[in-house]
Amino acid sequence: MKTILLGSAFAAGALTFSLSAEAAGRLNVVCSADNAWCELMEAEFEKKYDIDVSMVRKSSGEAYAQVRAEARNPKLDIWWAGTGDPHLQAAAEGLTTEYKSPLLDNLQDWAKRQAENANFRTVGVYAGALGIGYNTDLLKSKGLPAPKCWKDLANPAYKGEIQVANPNSSGTSYTALATLVQLFGEEEAFKFLKDMHRNVNQYTKSGSAPIKAAAIGETTIAITFMHDMVTQKEQGAPIEIVSPCEGTGYEVGSMSIIKGARNLENAKIWYEFALSAEAQSMAEKAGSYQVPSNKDATVPENAPRLTDIKLIDYDFAKYGSEKTRRHLLSRWDEEVKTAPQ
Ligand code: G6P
Repeated sequence: MKTILLGSAFAAGALTFSLSAEAAGRLNVVCSADNAWCELMEAEFEKKYDIDVSMVRKSSGEAYAQVRAEARNPKLDIWWAGTGDPHLQAAAEGLTTEYKSPLLDNLQDWAKRQAENANFRTVGVYAGALGIGYNTDLLKSKGLPAPKCWKDLANPAYKGEIQVANPNSSGTSYTALATLVQLFGEEEAFKFLKDMHRNVNQYTKSGSAPIKAAAIGETTIAITFMHDMVTQKEQGAPIEIVSPCEGTGYEVGSMSIIKGARNLENAKIWYEFALSAEAQSMAEKAGSYQVPSNKDATVPENAPRLTDIKLIDYDFAKYGSEKTRRHLLSRWDEEVKTAPQ
């Protein structure tokens, strides 16, 4: 105020500067975690920095599609969270920007490896394993056996009882598809998926929707990440979490800066914030129970520990590659979605 009153050329310069600094105080984020966590991150970030965040929530496959569609004229600055495979695909296609955070050495090996696999065009922010969840009340009242293995889900007794997302929109479901291919080989995995298709009541858009539906009794069985099942259990839903007997796959939830981001400096500020132990330790407040990538972040007590689960050696480079993702998704569209029920 004082400088403006001076009326000098210097003051006019200062005014122009402060206006443009304000205009630069924006950040466009696409968030592929669950809504509650997206909103918490936005609120905490805005509390800490004088930057206006505009955020949309999109499933991982949909966020990837937006980033790709806008490549010539990017509207987004940063893509936070969501499964790692589509982030890797975006990196390989040059849709995201190389950035090496000073926090890289504070990260778990799987998070650093994710960055290295993408020439630092993405980075790991959390990890979580896939599982089978079921509503114990419904299972009992319908007299159904408890599933223990992936292959159990093809049992005709489960007709109409299973819900899972569509792997085109959902990173969760793509992780399941890639996991089954890695466990059984492609032919056997697709045969199983076609058999299981007879039991599927709905392919949802978002990955965690099926376990939310199980929690309120709209489906008996759901395939999602185990930490999404913990969220429902913590809210009192009668959910049992199964780690499939054959072994299971996992995600390295990731974050990428969009190539050509208009608010690049602010995107880097978000990036550092999202990798900090402080921000990652807040996830539990939003009911998110992933394993954080920063080694100094607090791991929620009931986060499913990767070391306690029979994990496959998930090949992120291969299953996050454009060729493999495109091939598996189109095969799923042609053979599974349209198979007889
Ligand atoms: C949930 C999980 C996240 C995961 C995300 C993927 O929000 O908690 O760990 O990254 O789903 O979402 P999508 O809708 O792409 O499956």
